[in-house]
Amino acid sequence: MYNIQTLNKISAIGTDIFDKSKYAVSDSPENPDAIMVRSAKMHDMQFGENLLAIARAGAGVNNIPVERCAEEGICVFNTPGANSNAVKELAICALLLASRKITEAAAWAASLKGTPDAPKTVEGGKSKFAGPEILGKTLGIIGLGAIGGKIANTAVALGMNVIGYDPYLSVNAAVQLDSSVKVVTDINDIYKNSDYITIHMPYTPQTKNTIDAEQIAMMKDGVRLINLARGELINSEAVVKAIADGKVAKYVTDFADDVVLGVENIIVLPHLGASTPESEDNCAVMAANELIDYIENGNIRNSVNLPNASMNATGTKVCVIHKNVPSLISAITKAVGDEGLNIENMVNASKKDFAYTMMDVIGDVTDAVANDIKAIDGIIRVRVIK
Ligand code: MLT
Repeated sequence: MYNIQTLNKISAIGTDIFDKSKYAVSDSPENPDAIMVRSAKMHDMQFGENLLAIARAGAGVNNIPVERCAEEGICVFNTPGANSNAVKELAICALLLASRKITEAAAWAASLKGTPDAPKTVEGGKSKFAGPEILGKTLGIIGLGAIGGKIANTAVALGMNVIGYDPYLSVNAAVQLDSSVKVVTDINDIYKNSDYITIHMPYTPQTKNTIDAEQIAMMKDGVRLINLARGELINSEAVVKAIADGKVAKYVTDFADDVVLGVENIIVLPHLGASTPESEDNCAVMAANELIDYIENGNIRNSVNLPNASMNATGTKVCVIHKNVPSLISAITKAVGDEGLNIENMVNASKKDFAYTMMDVIGDVTDAVANDIKAIDGIIRVRVIK
């Protein structure tokens, strides 16, 4: 029986995928084999030796110590794209919120409750809530992945000029972009030419404060900023100052901090990007399927700390997580051969410092084989899947 721990509330449509005869899903199992998580902070957690994998039901993995997990032989998955439509829809909403003073106007209208002649008052007072249309304006998108790409195409359909920047743009993402989206190779082109800027990149120590005072200084006067990715990507102090100076007209962020809360012309949402039933279901289903395929078949799809690798086997699968260093693959195959076993098929892939080798081995793969492989310097974890 495999124990799956849920650290946050995970959609039942996802947890129900686990076959109850093989898996027990609960929020507090002893020594779990896998963890499903949304936003719970895991950096200070110690992981038990049974833990094979962590699946993040969502895109961002900054709440998980991904590097340490790789060193401990724990595969970390995320669910890229599963919530992209939800975030795209909120981004389009944010574009309009950044333009039309909707939240301020609605709050003012609500404040008129109980006053005499409210219909007349609203007609007289509405002029202070006028705001520009997005049609014909330029939207700059930093990050053209699953979310940024969808926003780009929808913004084009809404009549915006769209420019995008993404140093890691995949061929798959590129071919899905509307042909009118102009992809720039210099991020400063986004800052200099956009009326609206939205950022969709992961938060890492390297991407902290991607937008700071220096970047804001390059922007058009009256630029409107949107951040539905991670609060740390935009320096809150710099934005508050730029709002006070009139440089930035509006900031819509999905991340509350004490600096941005309660500031005029800053709209703070409580991290609602992926909060739709559809996206919570999509993420949970994708995360559950990734875990099942890894636990039962050793296949890796959408890992953020280990390479993707899949293989069909006719014999016994021997799956090895190891350091990405010279001579290890030959040492692994020698250990199998020395036990008189034949490797029918083999897959090896690497991601930065780590690599994954899957072998389809014909013959009786005993504990001795696994132990021989484990004894090789640089081997992190060995699993035999019969
Ligand atoms: C994500 O990283 O997938 C989104 O920010 C939503 C979430 O954190 O759940």
